[in-house]
Amino acid sequence: MRRYRLSDHGAIENLAIVEAASPEPGPGEAVVRMRAASLNPRDLMVIIGPSPYGPRPGLTPLSDGAGEVLRVGPGVTRVRPGDRVVASFRPGWIDGPLEAAAIAGDLGGGGDGVLAEEVRLPAAALVRLPDEVGFEAAASLPCAAVTAWRALDAPRLPADATVLVQGTGGVSLFALQLAVARGCRVIATTSSPARAARLRALGAETVIDRTTFPDWDAQVLAATGGRGADRIVEVGGPGTLPKSFAAAAYGGEIGLVGLLSDPMDRVSPLPVMSRMLTLRGVLVGSRADLEAVVAEVAAGRPAPVIDSVFDFDDAPAALRRLQAHEQVGKIVVRI
Ligand SMILES: NC(=O)c1ccc[n+]([C@@H]2O[C@H](COP(=O)([O-])OP(=O)(O)OC[C@H]3O[C@@H](n4cnc5c(N)ncnc54)[C@H](OP(=O)(O)O)[C@@H]3O)[C@@H](O)[C@H]2O)c1
Repeated sequence: MRRYRLSDHGAIENLAIVEAASPEPGPGEAVVRMRAASLNPRDLMVIIGPSPYGPRPGLTPLSDGAGEVLRVGPGVTRVRPGDRVVASFRPGWIDGPLEAAAIAGDLGGGGDGVLAEEVRLPAAALVRLPDEVGFEAAASLPCAAVTAWRALDAPRLPADATVLVQGTGGVSLFALQLAVARGCRVIATTSSPARAARLRALGAETVIDRTTFPDWDAQVLAATGGRGADRIVEVGGPGTLPKSFAAAAYGGEIGLVGLLSDPMDRVSPLPVMSRMLTLRGVLVGSRADLEAVVAEVAAGRPAPVIDSVFDFDDAPAALRRLQAHEQVGKIVVRI
């Protein structure tokens, strides 16, 4: 089988296809014939550095993949050969609170990832796919969609909430679609008229171009009669958080997900108190969250937005598209 191998951190060029032996599953493990993988900004951090997991020369990157079970090891009853499955981003986090030790096993970071024809995984990390969910859609879910699910606290998202999402990335579009499916009113920020049109087509009622309106917080307040947004999915981080505080309704909840703006900016926490906000840190999610998201997609709420699909041999070009911020939604590699 073939897999991508990262010889060292520093550049996408350090990634190359190598031949490798087909993996054999140990006790509690399954080998999956990967059919699709999707990219996340974290993959660029792992490949180019500095990686949050530290240097891992020889690593197979990418966390998000879906395929068919080929073989299972002793004691595995959760999946069988032939099952269509998607792997959870953090195999050690099944449900409930996150234990710190689980982070070390993150796919394509702490350990080998899914950019390979065959991948050995803990069977406990796998979620079976209903027929309605194709491999490319499934591969787009483990990081971005699960993160959106938790950032919105989707199980507790009321239909009368006003939700603010930032941009046209994988996390924000999934959050937008989940919120629209719930019946929520969605306000979105973006950076161009073409992207604004995509957001409107997906159901955003109000779209604010953050390049034309750097004071988009005031625009959110104006669009809500001064009340603000009940839920905010914050992908900008320290550079945009003060505006999200200002754009939030009293008692609003902010899911802090990303660091796309200046991560070193200082942010005053005072508005969290004075507007009685809840700031919810999100670090992807558990297998139980992935199961919930797969069920939503199977029911058609929502259908993941796939920006582009690259062949396995062209994975470096897919990464360069992500690096250039050219995508709207998820970039997928067909394996
Ligand atoms: N904590 C977690 O568990 C977790 C999980 C997944 C992702 N993340 C992080 O969340 C962020 C988004 O991830 P993603 O997969 O959605 O990324 P993505 O697909 O690369 O999308 C990023 C989009 O955000 C918008 N954007 C860029 N800079 C911005 C800024 N300064 N202010 C507001 N919007 C901005 C842009 O859309 P427009 O051009 O339309 O504005 C851009 O296309 C990244 O920082 C990622 O590392 C964190």
